[in-house]
Amino acid sequence: MYDLILRQANLSDGRSGVDIGVRDGRIAAIGPGLAGPAGTEIDAAGRLVSPPFVDAHFHLDSALSLGQPRLNRSGTLLEGIALWGEAKPSLSVETLVERALRYCDLAVAQGLLAIRSHVDVGDPRLVTVEALLHVRERVRPYLDLQLVAFPQDGYLRGPGIAESLDRALSMGVDVVGGIPHFERTMADGALSVERLCRIAAERGLPVDMHCDESDDPLSRHIETLAAETIRHGLQGRVAGSHLTSMHSMDNYYVSKLIPLIAEAGIHAIANPLINITLQGRHDTYPKRRGMTRVPELMAAGVNVAFGHDCVMDPWYSLGCGDMLEVAHMAVHVGQMTSLAAMQSAFDAVTVNAAKALGLEGYGLDIGCHADFVVLQARDPIEAIRLKAHRLAVIRRGKVIARSAHKVSELMLDGRPRHLDTAGYAPPAGNL
Ligand code: FE2
Repeated sequence: MYDLILRQANLSDGRSGVDIGVRDGRIAAIGPGLAGPAGTEIDAAGRLVSPPFVDAHFHLDSALSLGQPRLNRSGTLLEGIALWGEAKPSLSVETLVERALRYCDLAVAQGLLAIRSHVDVGDPRLVTVEALLHVRERVRPYLDLQLVAFPQDGYLRGPGIAESLDRALSMGVDVVGGIPHFERTMADGALSVERLCRIAAERGLPVDMHCDESDDPLSRHIETLAAETIRHGLQGRVAGSHLTSMHSMDNYYVSKLIPLIAEAGIHAIANPLINITLQGRHDTYPKRRGMTRVPELMAAGVNVAFGHDCVMDPWYSLGCGDMLEVAHMAVHVGQMTSLAAMQSAFDAVTVNAAKALGLEGYGLDIGCHADFVVLQARDPIEAIRLKAHRLAVIRRGKVIARSAHKVSELMLDGRPRHLDTAGYAPPAGNL
């Protein structure tokens, strides 16, 4: 009757002890004690079953390029951009494809089945675009890859960049990108936002801009982005990535700005690992954290998603494609320590990110794609705490990755004892 039944699952939306029945790659039934038989049965045994992780902001063209051609000595965003500029002339389609596929394998093994990747369109050869369009097709059966035409060196800064961006969109890149804070002047930044939103409206495409990735409290391109979104009727199709200047902005100004962002239906995408690393680099002490105002944006009804942004590239030497590590960092940087806030951090790397990407059929309702991650944790908070082991990754009802239950064998008293870190239960009534 079913191709697959997942039994005794705790769902990431709070439902517990349910079975999920899958037919033809979609969820056909959810409820207690579904009748078999099924082609495959997996006993989740009270473990967490979530829809797959979604990375709302990534750079697949630079991922895993660490040390090429050298390391970032200052650790700043600007040296990272300069370093990437040094690497660009020697990039080839073959190298880019090989690295990107390697990263996608890493992602899938961790239940990360949708990635929005910015692609640098600054080099007129567009080898990055050619490579990642190829990768998008190669991974399509198991990973949804969205590409953003991203003018890393500024849309208005050099000759030919506007044409390259246009060409990338015509080649099939999905989303219009931008980087207004990196244009020469505030006025140029605003002009780039206006032009790029117009292009998106004309082509019927979404927008996702690197916006105000700066500690400058007067970097206010998000305001222009919100206004242009409303002017062009792009509500719900525009994302503001980073928005780190909001961390440093005057509180009164923000009290006006956040409702404008909400009115424009802009998705806010924070990148906690990278924001905490790259921002505040000009500070002595106290050092600013840089991450945008995640709890305040969420409280105002703005859809907030998280991205990994970088893994082993000119901007960040670490990372492994684990979106629970991203959520874990956000909880700390944003002081999101209430139970509701920790749950919302989990949502930011799953349902909220899926909403920002406009993914069709995502979720845990009947009719949704049968895409799941089974985690060695009982609920989203425990998953974040443990950066929980992925026991199984399922795409369209088929297991595409699995690993054994993770236990440690302790020999403290000379006899082996197995320790499963998942399942530590705080005393009832203490939460
Ligand atoms: Fe980025």
